[in-house]
Amino acid sequence: MSSLDFSTKIGSRRFSNPIFTASGCASSGQELSQFFPISEIGAVVTKSIMTKPRTGRATPRMAETPSGMLNSIGLQGPGIDAFLENDIPWLLANSAKVIVSIAGETVDEYGVLARKLRAVSGVSAVEVNISCPNVENRGQVFACHPESAVAVIESVRRNIGGELPIVAKLSPDVTNIVEIAQSVINVGVDGLALINTLLGMVIDTNTMKPKLAGKTGGLSGPAIRPVAVRAIYQVHQAFPQTPIVGMGGVSNGRDAFEMVLAGASAVSVGTATFGNPSAAMQIKDELSNLLLEKGFNDFRDAIGFAHRGV
Ligand code: SIN
Repeated sequence: MSSLDFSTKIGSRRFSNPIFTASGCASSGQELSQFFPISEIGAVVTKSIMTKPRTGRATPRMAETPSGMLNSIGLQGPGIDAFLENDIPWLLANSAKVIVSIAGETVDEYGVLARKLRAVSGVSAVEVNISCPNVENRGQVFACHPESAVAVIESVRRNIGGELPIVAKLSPDVTNIVEIAQSVINVGVDGLALINTLLGMVIDTNTMKPKLAGKTGGLSGPAIRPVAVRAIYQVHQAFPQTPIVGMGGVSNGRDAFEMVLAGASAVSVGTATFGNPSAAMQIKDELSNLLLEKGFNDFRDAIGFAHRGV
């Protein structure tokens, strides 16, 4: 049986395998550790953390849709100080590779979060979530405009110091995702997370009212996978040297493989975890078997394979 080099890189950091959790779907990993050793996946990407504790939006804030779900959580979380005190030590004590996702209401808040992270050792990268669909003010979806996306990334870069890789999480709700990617690559991001959820809505035909208290929500799950594959393919084609963490409806190893072929250097598992808490581990094993079956001995040779000779 041939062996596989399953490792991958984002910026200066190496990960033992390319299967990560998706931000927001596994909190900081504690619950998942009942099901498998958290150190065995490539990285835990934590729920986007803000400067202050937040209760999030009113309920109901989740709704089922065909092949997917809508969420309108509103970035609930303990705030950066409690997160750094409790969650990071737990993750590091459990030998997890950690990518901290941050979200702010203003450009300055991202800078404050980055400055706090600067003092923390053992973190592998920061995911800058500039694409949350559930903010009250749609003007705060920084990833919808190149200028605001750039302002956030510059603020994070100024404040974080050192070599910590910065991964910008982009929204699919734009006309030209390559243009947004270009803007943040120009100011030095080390990687991109593609894609966040798509803005959607469900109306209950019995009550004749929106199902979510927040009215709109982010659509995730298998329904959005072709959108994610398209975005990854387009961005990889334009910027083949920029690592992409792909996500959006990955439920099995074949779905993950599709994203890798499109150009993803790593794949995050999100919504699938709600139905199957061991999904990330299963997908890791399935992807590794599939790569070997297809004749790959080095995971990195499969990244962007769908572009070759096209
Ligand atoms: C949320 O907490 O509202 C979701 C975060 C996100 O999709 O970025």
